[in-house]
Amino acid sequence: MKESQAIPQEKVIILDFGAQYSQLIARRVRECRVYSEIMPGDSSVEEISARNPGALILTGGPGSVYHEDALTADEGIFELGIPVLGICYGHQLIAAHYGGREAVGPASRREYGRTSLQLASTDRLFAGIPSRIDVWMSHGDLVNEPPDRFKVLAHSEGTPVAAMVHEALPIYGVQFHPEVGHTDRGLDMLRNWLHDIAGFSGEWDMKSFIEHAVQQIREQVGSGSALCGLSGGVDSAVSAVLVHRAIGDRLTCVFVDHGLLRKEEAHTVTEFFAREMELNVVAVDASERFLSALAGVSDPEQKRKIVGHEFISVFDEQARALGDFDFLVQGTIYPDVVESGVGGSAVIKSHHNVGGLPEKMRMALVEPLRELFKDEVRRVGEALGIPGEILTRHPFPGPGLAVRVLGEITREKLDTLREADAIFEEELRAADLYRDIWQSFVVLPDMLSVGVMGDQRTYASTAVLRAVTSEDAMTADWARIPADVLDVTARRIINEVPGINRVAYDITSKPPATIEWE
Ligand code: XMP
Repeated sequence: MKESQAIPQEKVIILDFGAQYSQLIARRVRECRVYSEIMPGDSSVEEISARNPGALILTGGPGSVYHEDALTADEGIFELGIPVLGICYGHQLIAAHYGGREAVGPASRREYGRTSLQLASTDRLFAGIPSRIDVWMSHGDLVNEPPDRFKVLAHSEGTPVAAMVHEALPIYGVQFHPEVGHTDRGLDMLRNWLHDIAGFSGEWDMKSFIEHAVQQIREQVGSGSALCGLSGGVDSAVSAVLVHRAIGDRLTCVFVDHGLLRKEEAHTVTEFFAREMELNVVAVDASERFLSALAGVSDPEQKRKIVGHEFISVFDEQARALGDFDFLVQGTIYPDVVESGVGGSAVIKSHHNVGGLPEKMRMALVEPLRELFKDEVRRVGEALGIPGEILTRHPFPGPGLAVRVLGEITREKLDTLREADAIFEEELRAADLYRDIWQSFVVLPDMLSVGVMGDQRTYASTAVLRAVTSEDAMTADWARIPADVLDVTARRIINEVPGINRVAYDITSKPPATIEWE
């Protein structure tokens, strides 16, 4: 995507050297109201300056700077004349750049976890911060001595150079992790660095994100046209409204009803977007086609593949019928990118909203939310005027109820599930719990059990309630729903939904389970 010059100097580029915490750094920077983007650590200085950063953060990483094959930064970044903050491995890279590789070596005493930090001299980085604090360390290497013209700002028992600054340049290195919650006042340090040292105004917010994104979309799409698959979920909704704001009627949205949606969802979604948001929405009822392709299939990955494949075909046919589009809008957000194994992480489930479509359709992608977390997407949505009802809707997987009806899928099972699911949602809303829960739904396992209703033996299905709290779906805990809410939900499901004689509540976290059952 061509980079916009919309917010010159108001952007931090985070050079990622394989850190566990790169996204967390990005979040923290944004919490300090400064826009940030992540790039691979070994990006060339030309690629970096093309993005017009006002400052750079070099992250931690698993490597050792003194190894031949160490991932290293383009040395030219130190000539850009912009502030640099190195964290952990980034701190060691700065030391190696200014003091040679021998400035860094293996620590005789590794520090992992909470460590006491002693400030050695005053500096704007630590303004307002006590001289002794606990910080989070996680390193096997350390900077032995400060390079020439660097001043030591802090040390710990095992780390002689735990923080340093160049005498004349705004170049800082810290061995500890200011971005993690375990570092006392870590956010204050980042704020000091961003606002007082790097000089950012701290005015970036979701409105600025929108302006920036709208300008980028306009530059990318030019006079072309775009197609967007609306799912009813928050991500595609916010993407569509954002792109609509950028290119207006040159955006067409397609809503495919694959017959695997929640109760009344198809109607509600299309009505809302067409009427209230004035988007150009084409609704397609393809449920027959999906259900026949899924008939007799019970393997979860197989189901995902079928839904993904059918979705692409239906969408492709619609696209062709509607005209010639240059761009495809996708509501990909950061956790989707990570969980689908982009960037070397393992594939857990083949999420169907990432990949697939573009190859088949040969359209360039517009993914305005690719670097955002869910909570940030919701805030963008709010700033765009999308009502809370849509924005607080729990996430719903692309393959829909296909991965919640375990085993073979039939219309009857889907209807049963939909009814039970709607009751669970109603009860959570009535108890004012819906918004605090990340995701809640009902699963219909492929099993029957014995019960007794009105003196009659029953042999019917179980509805499993699943509700989790989470920040980003990468990890999740089961929600501690009060027993009386579970009780009323269970009774209503048994009384109102034929075919269910038992209700269970899933109390597994992620990991070891995943949020969905398939
Ligand atoms: P799991 O089950 O992997 O789910 O813990 C993590 C989050 O992703 C959602 N999910 C999907 N979303 N397409 C999607 O758009 C998919 O194929 C898909 N599979 C799972 C799931 O609902 C949860 O929020």
